[in-house]
Amino acid sequence: MPDVRVAINGFGTIGKRVARAVQAQPDMVVSGVTKTGPSHGCSLAERLGLPLYCTSDDKSDIASFEAGGYRVNGGLSDLLSKSDIVVDCAPGKLGASNHEKYQQAGIKHIFQGGEKHNLTGMSYTSCSNHSENLGASGTRVVSCNTTGLARTLVPLRELVGELKVECTMIRRAADPGDSGRGPVNAIKPVLKVPSHHGPDLMTVADGIQITSLAVAVPTTIMHVHSISVTLPEEHGLDTNTVLELWGNTPRVIAMSGKEDKIPSTAEVMEMARDIGRPWGDLHEIFVWTDGVSVDGNTLRYFQAIHQESDVVPENIDAIRALLSLETDWRASVRLTDQSIKDSLV
Ligand SMILES: NC(=O)c1ccc[n+]([C@@H]2O[C@H](COP(=O)([O-])OP(=O)(O)OC[C@H]3O[C@@H](n4cnc5c(N)ncnc54)[C@H](OP(=O)(O)O)[C@@H]3O)[C@@H](O)[C@H]2O)c1
Repeated sequence: MPDVRVAINGFGTIGKRVARAVQAQPDMVVSGVTKTGPSHGCSLAERLGLPLYCTSDDKSDIASFEAGGYRVNGGLSDLLSKSDIVVDCAPGKLGASNHEKYQQAGIKHIFQGGEKHNLTGMSYTSCSNHSENLGASGTRVVSCNTTGLARTLVPLRELVGELKVECTMIRRAADPGDSGRGPVNAIKPVLKVPSHHGPDLMTVADGIQITSLAVAVPTTIMHVHSISVTLPEEHGLDTNTVLELWGNTPRVIAMSGKEDKIPSTAEVMEMARDIGRPWGDLHEIFVWTDGVSVDGNTLRYFQAIHQESDVVPENIDAIRALLSLETDWRASVRLTDQSIKDSLV
């Protein structure tokens, strides 16, 4: 079967990472990536050998790339006509106008967590609803926070049944490459209570009743979730069995703050840099083993999310789901993760 041709519409924080992850896969190629106009990110596309297109079809917008010294292959319509599927990595809330373009082009499409579930009526997380997304025309890979919640809560729900969850999200203020956001010297609660973050999990997973509070803090590395789960009365779990479960869960890393000398997100990201993925990314959700406790029917734990990268391998699995390339989510996850690993050596 020929490689699937994947268009990446938007080549920023998420788009460039998804493009590299696609390049690493044995069953896919990047048909092209888009930028709004000439900027330093175009050089990265050239260096990675990725055909560059303009986000619009406007002739003067397209011509601006050549004027800026970059070779451009056309506008979005040209790219879509040479592709089997498009991964939309545009800034959040631009989805609706792009959605119309994808529908007109008759191409399958994947949005990101900055869009709402009802844009396509489908959402995606590898571990919870791969099979529901098989053959769908469009979906949304849920946000970095929702992806993180699914990774640790879905296997628990599968083991013991329905869960009731309270989560406080301590969120990074801005991405490292984003100078336009804050707070810089404040801790800023989200004053819409409960926040929308936790309940978004219910778009991909049944049997988890969740509410959340959120607060932004002045850091650019990682979100931390402080989670309290009410387990069913007859759950049969203790702290060790929960850790064992997550030890066998794909894309979850559990390590000790004390023994492994990883007491904070700073050391988590240093460990991620040691793994050697591009940009020092950490695709896995990080759980501190010494921060996990089962007390009666309450499980409490902390987890950390690398906001720029945990959704990246999920986008690859979502491509396989929409194009019905792999029906078994675990098989897709294995192929995605091994291919990314092999591409690093
Ligand atoms: N950053 C995160 O931590 C994170 C985590 C999970 C999910 N997400 C979600 O992922 C999506 C992308 O976020 P991001 O952080 O990657 O944004 P970003 O860094 O601002 O990148 C957005 C990219 O989209 C391009 N673009 C602008 N207008 C466009 C349009 N009309 N159509 C297509 N592309 C357009 C931009 O082009 P130029 O470069 O030419 O300006 C830029 O390359 C959002 O839905 C966001 O909520 C972000």
